[in-house]
Amino acid sequence: PIPTLHADNGELSLEDVPLTQLAEQFGTPSYVYSKAALTAAFDAWQQALSGRRALVCYAVKANSNLGVLSVFARLGAGFDIVSGGELARVLAAGGRADKVVFSGVGKTRDEMRQALRAGIRCFNVESAAELERLDSIAAELGVKAPVALRVNPDVDPKTHPYISTGLKGNKFGVAFADAQALYARARALPNLHISGIACHIGSQLLDPAPIAEAAQKLAELVDRLATDGITLDHIDLGGGLGIRYQDETPPGVADYLAPLLKVFEGRTEELCFEPGRSLVGNAGLLLTRIEYLKPGETKNFAIVDAAMNDLARPALYDAWHDVVEVVARATPAQTYDVVGPICESGDFLARERELAVEEGDLLAILSAGAYGMTMSSNYNTRPRAAEVIVDGEQAHLVRARETIDALFADEKPL
Ligand code: LLP
Repeated sequence: PIPTLHADNGELSLEDVPLTQLAEQFGTPSYVYSKAALTAAFDAWQQALSGRRALVCYAVKANSNLGVLSVFARLGAGFDIVSGGELARVLAAGGRADKVVFSGVGKTRDEMRQALRAGIRCFNVESAAELERLDSIAAELGVKAPVALRVNPDVDPKTHPYISTGLKGNKFGVAFADAQALYARARALPNLHISGIACHIGSQLLDPAPIAEAAQKLAELVDRLATDGITLDHIDLGGGLGIRYQDETPPGVADYLAPLLKVFEGRTEELCFEPGRSLVGNAGLLLTRIEYLKPGETKNFAIVDAAMNDLARPALYDAWHDVVEVVARATPAQTYDVVGPICESGDFLARERELAVEEGDLLAILSAGAYGMTMSSNYNTRPRAAEVIVDGEQAHLVRARETIDALFADEKPL
């Protein structure tokens, strides 16, 4: 699934760099991303939206490495953030504050101040209480806060329940039925500037119909607001476009957007999108080395040096990631569970895979560019992996492997 991953003489390379070379140079486990794949993914969005007033705001949570952010910043991306920390990263990577939208249900006063001082483009407000708080913080700073209300269009995105966010009964957004009244309230608050409307219905969407349905609902609401004299400058459809991990067949960006763009035909509002996974997921892999092969009574285990602390998705969502040998071997394949060294039965990266491997071999865990490193932890006092961006024949270390000293540098014995 990674467009720039290819095998020559039985050995995998990302762009023009063999993965064995990366493992030698940077060690394992390491996250490795392809700049060409990142660029191609962003270009696909830009192209699908060409000729339209639109802004693609990369969802930083998917992969917040400064190297990755700087690639998108240079391509003209905006950014969707969910914390003050992510805002700081965007600015440090050269992203423009006036292209940043701030999502999330729990923005603190400090985060609001930070974002207002930076001059972000819009706050996607998720509750009445947040609207009031933002107004008071804006007053304190003597500025007007640009706002969109994130509404809950109550459409079923038909995805994993953990990542579907636009249905009634979850914590995100404001109820569709309350939106008009809340916009009226926002207009009455003197330190807010009503800029747009937002929604996000879920992630790993494989069908364009639900987002088009949400778009239709939003468009109708925008028209109703206009009759109240509230005019909006932008409509933010959130993120969600899925990728291929195994045998999924996600639509291309243009096919995903076509029915939605039809809904907005003839309208002048700027369209914003917040794609995360579709921009980075298949631009990255996790490179790991087999420490031991352990034949079991009912199962064989390949114990690798990456673990659930590096890539949590399999343990957390039972997510499937392809696992491939970096160097092909003539030895017959056997069925393995690929597991890490962490003391939990849930510490697996893949189950029941046919692999022709020996101790010391490298494995590539694919489609790991999104929600991989960003969801990693230091569980079992494991330093987090290095991160590398490959660009043609060049490999750039964009995050050094954590050191053990750094892990407890802020602690002290009592
Ligand atoms: N905008 C908002 C408001 C979001 O909540 C999200 C993701 C996105 C944009 C980006 O969605 P994407 O284009 O990546 O689908 N950790 C899970 C995914 C959680 C997604 C949360 N929200 C996973 O590993 O599958």
